[in-house]
Amino acid sequence: MHLHLGVNIDHVATLRQARYRTLPDAHNVEPSVLAAALECEAAGADSITVHLRADRRHIQDADVFLLRKKIGTRMNLEMGNTPEILDIALQVRPDFVCMVPEQREEVTTEGGLDVAGQHEAMRETVGRLEANGTRVSMFIDPEEAQVRASAAVGASMIELHTGTFANHIGAKRAAETERLRRAAQLGHELGLQVNAGHGLTTANLPDLFAVPHLHELNIGHSLVARAIFTGLNKAVTELREVMGRYTP
Ligand code: PXP
Repeated sequence: MHLHLGVNIDHVATLRQARYRTLPDAHNVEPSVLAAALECEAAGADSITVHLRADRRHIQDADVFLLRKKIGTRMNLEMGNTPEILDIALQVRPDFVCMVPEQREEVTTEGGLDVAGQHEAMRETVGRLEANGTRVSMFIDPEEAQVRASAAVGASMIELHTGTFANHIGAKRAAETERLRRAAQLGHELGLQVNAGHGLTTANLPDLFAVPHLHELNIGHSLVARAIFTGLNKAVTELREVMGRYTP
C-alpha cells in the first residue's frame, strides 16, 4: 500500500476570504475551493482535508457541503469537539473526522489534543460519529498517554502532530523523531491506523520516514505555498514522488 496523501485546502479558502469575506455570493468570488480540491485529486491526492473552525476564518459551511457532494476521493473533516460543529459533521457524514483542539486566537492548530483529559466527552463524540459512518482520528502529540487514551475513547485512528518535528533540526528533531517512532509503534500495536501531519514538506519528509506504520499524511501549508510557484498539480506530484520512497 502506498502512503496516502490528504491535501488540506484551508489556505485556498483563506485567500478567498481575504478578499470576499463580506461578499460570499458575488459572481467574481475566487479562488474556488472546489476547483482546487478537484485539481489535487486529479494530481493524485487520496483525500481532501478541511478544518471547519468555530470562527469560520477560512472554510465555510457551504464549502463542506459542496465538497462532500462533488469530490471523488475521501473527505477528512478536522473539527473541535463542540456541539455546533459536531452537528454539522453528523449531517455531512465525512469519511473521516480528525478531532483537533481549537482555541480562537491561535494561527493554526498549535498542539495536540488532550484526549486523556476529556475522556467522557470524547468517547461520546467518537461513538456518535462512528455510528454515523465516519471513522474518527485524534490529533495528538506523540505521547504514550495520548495514544492509549485515543484507543480507549474508541477512535480508529491517530494523527501524530509533527509540528515540533518540523520546527526543529539536528538533535531536537532526532529526539522528536524517536518520540514519533515510539508513538506510531504503540498506536499500531493497539490496532490504530497511524497518520501524521502538520508542517510537513518535501524537504523534511525523508527524516520522517524513520517512523514506522504511517498510513496517511495530511499536508496543507507547504503544498499551497509551493503551488504559488508551480501550480497545485505539480506541487501534489512533487510530494507524491517523495512519499513514494516510504516503506512502512
Ligand atoms: N493536520 C492537522 C490536524 C492540522 O490541524 C493541520 C493544519 O491545519 C494539518 C494537518 C496540516 O498542516 P500544514 O498546513 O502545516 O501542512
